[in-house]
Amino acid sequence: MTDLAAFIRSLPKAELHVHLEGCITPEQVVAIGRRNGVAPFESVQAARAAYDVSTLDDFLAMFAKASEVLLHEDDFAEVASAYFDLAAAEGVRHLELMLDLQAHTTRGLAIGTVFDGLARAQRHASRNGLSTSLIVNFMRERDEEEALALLASLAPYRSQIVAIGIDSAENGHPPRKFTRLFQEARMMGLGLVAHAGFEGPPEDIEEAIDLLQVDRVDHGNRVYERPALARRLGHMGTALTVCPCSEVELGVVASLAEHPVRRMLMDGMRPSVHSDDPAWFGSITENYIALAQESALTRSEVLQLVRNSFATSFLTASSISRYLAELDEKIDACADRA
Ligand code: ADE
Ligand code: ZN
Repeated sequence: MTDLAAFIRSLPKAELHVHLEGCITPEQVVAIGRRNGVAPFESVQAARAAYDVSTLDDFLAMFAKASEVLLHEDDFAEVASAYFDLAAAEGVRHLELMLDLQAHTTRGLAIGTVFDGLARAQRHASRNGLSTSLIVNFMRERDEEEALALLASLAPYRSQIVAIGIDSAENGHPPRKFTRLFQEARMMGLGLVAHAGFEGPPEDIEEAIDLLQVDRVDHGNRVYERPALARRLGHMGTALTVCPCSEVELGVVASLAEHPVRRMLMDGMRPSVHSDDPAWFGSITENYIALAQESALTRSEVLQLVRNSFATSFLTASSISRYLAELDEKIDACADRA
């Protein structure tokens, strides 16, 4: 392992953009599928080949296929626990897990099957020193009425949920479609996030901020196509959860070397780095390392990204201060050894 890789692995960090369904590995999709009599892929090798995607549409089709193997509480617990273990081993101390609840309820699963399974994984993570909470993402291609009805039915699970968001197909499904949903969620005291400006236009980022009033933009990689918008986000210190490997592999950023993250930092935005879908695009640390190496990030830029991950999380102010102090202690210890 290089010095930089070891340094990044050793830092306490928060992961704010990782999809539960994006954690289903080729091995799990086959094993869980066999157990449940659902076989979207014939073998691990076939699953690996199918996971090799290069557009958002192809990715979303595979993501939906993989999601179909999840049927029981145990399945949700197993997939989430495995990624929580991996993340904790890479220094993640706090993780906000996204899920596409509609990908499961529309297959007839009960909401409780999903949330009770995830609660088991969350208790397991907590025993391992990892705090977790859930972000319920609504799929942009589905309608707002369905999303509103589902939001209303989440009351019994409110304590597990920290925020809502929107994800899935961007083109033709602008954030303004969900204005009432976000108003409702805001009144419930939930945090607000939105995938925007990944494949869809930078106007989506503007709508997410002005109409949905999000706390964080997920991705936002197309922001520099509108220089005035980029200046505005810089002035506001907007939080952006960037996922460099998925952005490059799905062809919305030309290369890791050309990723806008350094510019975002310099302009006053508050980006942080995440895995998106680790079974497809690598873990959080792999994302940090690839980005830091290819974009030649300095240690202080890496540290700013890690600080932003805590500062822009939905943790309480006192927890954020505690984690930032822990990070500072780690940095001091590394400096003493250097
Ligand atoms: N679901 C999982 N990952 C996603 C992404 N990067 N964009 C939209 N929907 C997603
Ligand atoms: Zn995502």
